[in-house]
Amino acid sequence: MKKWFAVIGDPIEHSKSPFMHNTWFQEMGIDAAYIPIHVKRENLREAVAALKLLGASGWNVTIPHKEEIIQFLDELDPMAEKMGAVNTVVRQEDGTLKGYNTDGAGFVHALEEAVGKHKENKVLIIGAGGAGRGIAFALKEYGYKQVDIANRTVSKAESIIQELGSGTALSLEEAEKQLSQYGIVIQATSLGLSTGESGLPISLDGLQKEVIAADIVYNPLMTPFLLEAEKRGAKIVTGLGMFVHQGAIAFKHWLGQYPDTEEMMKRLMEQLK
Ligand code: ATR
Repeated sequence: MKKWFAVIGDPIEHSKSPFMHNTWFQEMGIDAAYIPIHVKRENLREAVAALKLLGASGWNVTIPHKEEIIQFLDELDPMAEKMGAVNTVVRQEDGTLKGYNTDGAGFVHALEEAVGKHKENKVLIIGAGGAGRGIAFALKEYGYKQVDIANRTVSKAESIIQELGSGTALSLEEAEKQLSQYGIVIQATSLGLSTGESGLPISLDGLQKEVIAADIVYNPLMTPFLLEAEKRGAKIVTGLGMFVHQGAIAFKHWLGQYPDTEEMMKRLMEQLK
């Protein structure tokens, strides 16, 4: 029987996930479909019941449901459990629902595909929201030993560092002063999206040449942070890779195969230009 998948969120109309997964199905000869479904916060329970009833094989979960979805699942992958957030649901053979979080691992796969493995480098994550948190746990799991987190609200960075069991929590001011120590700097705040403010969480005056600068935002592809870092000689990693790889890992959980991420990057880059 034809399989079907979905992404649920609010808003949902701008999601590139349906294009990405449907393209992979087509290219890999998989008889399946992937649809966007607009689900408001207050309708999440009914939406999950409907997805089960109508036989969805799995779905992605985006803003604002990543935390709330957990109460409706039967099982959680350890990474999703640590993060308290789920972006991928798999309906297992016996009909039970298991939640995964592929955002952090998606970031690490994308980083390593773009610039190779640099696990010895000191890493600074700017931002301690859901995204910064996921990336911090994934980097640690993949063997990056020195991961520090800076955040406007320092207490949020402190609590992640405490859970990680290593690293330092910094204020944005401290991060600016110590920037030259870092080999990888990751912009994980929501700032790149905004048009009003300067779009930079910290000044990049101290940025080393040859540093790796990565952003989680992919629309625009070149965020103010990446533009400024590139000017200063950094190697740039856009947020598009994270998006593609979080989808690829979800795809693997559903169908057992890892799809072609490089070709997908090119296609989406064309669309976003
Ligand atoms: P996400 O799940 O996408 O990470 P979030 O949980 O809302 O989103 O987190 C947003 C992040 O961007 C936080 O680190 C936030 O800092 P605070 O924890 O201090 O709120 C950061 N952020 C948002 N606007 C910012 C701004 N104008 N300057 C600096 N940091 C900002």
